[in-house]
Amino acid sequence: MLRRVNRVVLIGTGFVGSSYAFALLNQGITEELVLVDLNKEKAEGDAMDLNHGMPFAPSRTKIWYGDYKDCGVADLVVITAGANQKPGETRLDLVEKNTKIFKGIVDQIMDSGFNGIFLVATNPVDILTYAVWKFSGLPRGRVIGSGTILDTARFRYLLGEHFDVDTRNVHAYIIGEHGDTELPVWSHADIAGTTISEWTKNKADFNPDDLNQIFLNVRDAAYHIIERKGATYYGIAMGLVRLTKAILRNENSVLTVSAYLDGEYGHNDIYIGVPAVVNRNGVREIVELDLNEEEKAKFTNSVQVLKKTMEPVFK
Ligand code: 2OP
Repeated sequence: MLRRVNRVVLIGTGFVGSSYAFALLNQGITEELVLVDLNKEKAEGDAMDLNHGMPFAPSRTKIWYGDYKDCGVADLVVITAGANQKPGETRLDLVEKNTKIFKGIVDQIMDSGFNGIFLVATNPVDILTYAVWKFSGLPRGRVIGSGTILDTARFRYLLGEHFDVDTRNVHAYIIGEHGDTELPVWSHADIAGTTISEWTKNKADFNPDDLNQIFLNVRDAAYHIIERKGATYYGIAMGLVRLTKAILRNENSVLTVSAYLDGEYGHNDIYIGVPAVVNRNGVREIVELDLNEEEKAKFTNSVQVLKKTMEPVFK
C-alpha cells in the first residue's frame, strides 16, 4: 500500500535525540515520529511529554516509542545513539566504541526491511556514517552524516555577529572532518554576494586577525560548550531538523553534510563534510568548490587523518 505520510524513526533519545524530537515537533516537519532507545522508559517518557505539547504545535505529529521493527516503512532513520565525548576527549576517541554499537543498531534496522535514508549524527560522525553505509549496503547517497552542518552554522552565526548582519546573509562553509582538522573556505566566503575583503575595505576598525579567531572559535566550540555544560545538543538538533526538512520536502538544498566522495575534491572512499545538494533521495550531488592551494592541502590533511583513524576499524 502506498503510504502518504512521512515517518522518521529516531534511534537514541539522549540530549541530542530528544532535542531533535522537540525541534521536529515544533516545526511540524513529519507526520510520524518513532522514538527508539535502549532505555525504553526514557523513550516512552519522552513520547508522553512531547505528545502533551501537541496542541501547541503547528501541525499534528504522531509520536510514539517503538522498536527497530518500526523502521520497516520509515522514510528516514536518524541515529543519535552512542557514547559521547567526555571533557578532554576528542571526537575520534569514540571511534571503536561507537562502531561496535552501530553494527548492532544497523543490523536490526536493516532486518526490519528498511529502505529509506539514514541520517547519522553520532561522533565521530564522518567515520560512523561510513560505517552505516558499509553495514547497511544502501546506495551511498542514501546514507548522510550531519558532517559540518553545525560548524558551518557556527561560522555563519559568528561572522554575522562580527559584521552585525543577519547570519542568513552570510554564505561561508566549513568543510572536512567534523572535528579538529576541519577548515574554513575563506576563498568562497561572502556576505550578500560581497567578498569579505570587499566588505571590510573601508572599515577602519576591521582587524584581519579577527577572522582567524572566529574560525578557531568555530573549530573549538564543542570543547568550550562541553567544558561548561557537559554536552552540546540544541545546535546540532536544529541542524538535523534542517536536514530532515530538506530530505522529506525534496528541497534540493545545499547543506554541508558528510557525504561519500568518489573522486570529488580528488579523494575517494571516504565520508567527509562538503556542500551537497540534498533532496528526497538523499545526497543528489556534491558541490565541488574551487579551493585554493592552502585549502586543498588542509582538506587533504583532514581526509588523511580520517582514513588513518578508520584503518584499524575497517581492515
Ligand atoms: C559538536 O560539535 C560535539 O560534535 C558535537 O557540538
